[in-house]
Amino acid sequence: MFTKKILKNLSQYKTPFYYYDLQLLQKTLDVVKAESSKYNYNVHYAFKANTNSRIIDLIQKNGLGADCVSGNEVKCAIENKFESSKVVFAGVGKSDDEINYALEKNIFCFNCESLQELDVINELAVKQNKLASIALRINPNVDAHTHKYITTGLEENKFGINPYEFETVIEKLQKLPNLKLIGLHFHIGSQITDLSPFKKLCSRVNEINTYFLNKGFDLPIINVGGGVGINYHEPDKHAIIDFASYFKVFNDFIELRKNQELHFELGRAIIAQCGSLISKVLYIKNGINTNFAILDAGMTELIRPALYQAFHVIENISSKEKNTIKYDVVGPICESSDCFGKAVELPETKRGDIIAIRSAGAYGEVMASRYNLRDEVRSYFSE
Ligand code: LLP
Repeated sequence: MFTKKILKNLSQYKTPFYYYDLQLLQKTLDVVKAESSKYNYNVHYAFKANTNSRIIDLIQKNGLGADCVSGNEVKCAIENKFESSKVVFAGVGKSDDEINYALEKNIFCFNCESLQELDVINELAVKQNKLASIALRINPNVDAHTHKYITTGLEENKFGINPYEFETVIEKLQKLPNLKLIGLHFHIGSQITDLSPFKKLCSRVNEINTYFLNKGFDLPIINVGGGVGINYHEPDKHAIIDFASYFKVFNDFIELRKNQELHFELGRAIIAQCGSLISKVLYIKNGINTNFAILDAGMTELIRPALYQAFHVIENISSKEKNTIKYDVVGPICESSDCFGKAVELPETKRGDIIAIRSAGAYGEVMASRYNLRDEVRSYFSE
């Protein structure tokens, strides 16, 4: 069990820190590769989920592509030996510098999110005398039924090009000689635990794919993004998600033509269960109605509970107490939202006990901040 190793090495580890299980990451990648290769699907790793260098390195060695949303992510991918022919660049607000850099590196594809972005990429490609491969990021208006902050595929969201703009896009493309349209890109949201939104996405993709074919665009790439969710409630029982069922939905419902490849951009499902945030209890404060366990980790290390009211399993991994008590488990930051969980049942907890906040491998370390001038969070690995 990963906790034993942490407790054994505590004198060398300084809390708070992220602890990553690289064996679990490898096992997860093995399943992703086995299940996606059944259908010849291409999987890109969504860098935004975690850019810790050890993790990126292992993912690169397993041959995944890179889905990037900033120039620095593109740079990180290329510096970590991802082939530029496997790097895609999405994002609603790509700056000129970022586009120029990606053009210089000859990345596989820009996922374009607005009409104006088409003009800008073309203009910069003309200056570099390059032909930029692009996919249109399309807003399919499919509800992902997830937290509103991580829903991206609805008309009200800022992402993508809307179907009512397609005519204009097609007219525009004819006037932009340094763009080559190679595909269609979709991403409807994140932490989607029920597969039915993906079925809906497939039928929208089929309609839109046919529309473009009828307009004379036989596009080789269909990219359906990422978003498949994990089980935050039972991290040990569901350490690896059911990738077989996930990929099967696409195989069953998407209608690809012989020359078309299907691409995915998975983040959370690859890395979330591989990481825990490990923290020490600084103080116990017993109130009339509420007891607080005050940790040395806070929203600066893991912002998900404060930002999305996200649930993470919280465990006292050092206590041998049988008696349990309910605690509000909070951090040291001067914000009331700096709370990891309310009324969490833990063994009677003392100053110095070690707490693990589970399923924190995705959108944990990458979203850490130095608010309150906190130290940068460390990371250690189970090899
Ligand atoms: N592709 C695109 C275009 C995306 O915007 C995202 C995530 C992904 C792929 C990867 O999605 P995943 O497979 O990881 O669900 N910070 C939030 C999650 C934000 C997701 C942003 N986009 C959280 O902590 O829940």
